[in-house]
Amino acid sequence: MDAVVREWFDVAGAGEIAEGDVCTYIVGADRVVVARAEGALYAVQDRCSHDNGPLGEGCLVGFDVQCPRHGASFDVRDGRVTSAPALVGIGTFEVRELDGRVQVSGTPAGDDDW
Ligand code: FES
Repeated sequence: MDAVVREWFDVAGAGEIAEGDVCTYIVGADRVVVARAEGALYAVQDRCSHDNGPLGEGCLVGFDVQCPRHGASFDVRDGRVTSAPALVGIGTFEVRELDGRVQVSGTPAGDDDW
């Protein structure tokens, strides 16, 4: 069995991402949005699947991050579309808190096609 080796990128102090925040970071070659909803951290790509809008400039409503361009929404827990005009979900990343720091995996979670 092959073990998956993840590279973790330290992006912020845990206290820097407050409830309801969406913050954008460079993780390897990707721009990643880290959001805190109901106390937990989630990470998704900073690129709307509709027309590449910057999701990190959008707002978080519940678990949905809303694109500032045309209003599409995505669930930060799994990247699925929750509101048009986007039709395709977005990629997610694993995120963790370790010793007071927020870390994002440089490897996209799941088998997202993006
Ligand atoms: S670019 Fe995001 S909704 Fe159009």
